[in-house]
Amino acid sequence: MIRKCLFPAAGYGTRFLPATKAMPKEVMPIVNKPLIQYGVEEALEAGMHDIAIVTGRGKRALEDHFDVSYELEHQINGTDKEAYLADIRRLMDQCTFSYTRQKEMKGLGHAILTGETLIGREPFGVILADDLCDGNSDGVMAQMARIYAKYRCSVVAIEEVPQDQIEKYGVIAGSEIEDGLFMISDMVEKPSPEEAPSNLAIIGRYILTPDIFDILRETPPGRGGEIQITDALLTQAKRNMVLAYKFKGRRFDCGSVAGFIEATNYYYERMRDDG
Ligand code: UTP
Repeated sequence: MIRKCLFPAAGYGTRFLPATKAMPKEVMPIVNKPLIQYGVEEALEAGMHDIAIVTGRGKRALEDHFDVSYELEHQINGTDKEAYLADIRRLMDQCTFSYTRQKEMKGLGHAILTGETLIGREPFGVILADDLCDGNSDGVMAQMARIYAKYRCSVVAIEEVPQDQIEKYGVIAGSEIEDGLFMISDMVEKPSPEEAPSNLAIIGRYILTPDIFDILRETPPGRGGEIQITDALLTQAKRNMVLAYKFKGRRFDCGSVAGFIEATNYYYERMRDDG
């Protein structure tokens, strides 16, 4: 059973400027719920109760979101508006939250290494909250936890992406060992369409074994001068085994304006259908 889930949330969110000038991207709402809250709900559904968040300067709103707001509670206690707080109260009851700061934004790999102090030596989930995943009744992290329980190695979530989008992602090559489950043999970060070894792109869900921290420490900066998790995972794949799992469900790239709007429309429709 994996208990901990890490949320790297220190990025600048430049694609959403000026909205992200004073507000973290991760608290931007899809309808009425911040992106990070969808992510924490997904972690909890997978049995991960210990939430570890890597933050940076200007990200205080993240901590406040998962803390009690006494004035607000006092104002609405006993009114019918309490129903709006039911979901977040449940998360706060069932999860613990811990935070550490990434002082320099040196990439996702560096952000994950910064989280080591909160994780220690145990396997853990990683959720990038700006990749919003809807697994219907079976959350993507819960699907991945089942793969981990069977194979006991790092697992990354993948999806097929069109050729003209491939250079935004880490892309894998591998052999299919079960329907939709690949043993990784190669990985390239942000390849050109000609360089891409497949159309299978890594999205923002990982389960990592703790040896990844030792590998990250030895991983030199890669593309863009950043420490890339893809480079560390390739080292891990060569030493042991790393699996890539084609998840069931739908993903929205809420780090881009188009994906954010698409997710907003989708969740709004769903909310209206649910009444
Ligand atoms: P992105 O590159 O998508 O996020 O990183 P960003 O940098 O915030 O956004 P843009 O590109 O400037 O618009 C993927 C995830 O990794 C985290 C981000 O917070 C995001 O969740 N990240 C990235 C860090 O925590 N630290 C880093 O140094 C880089």
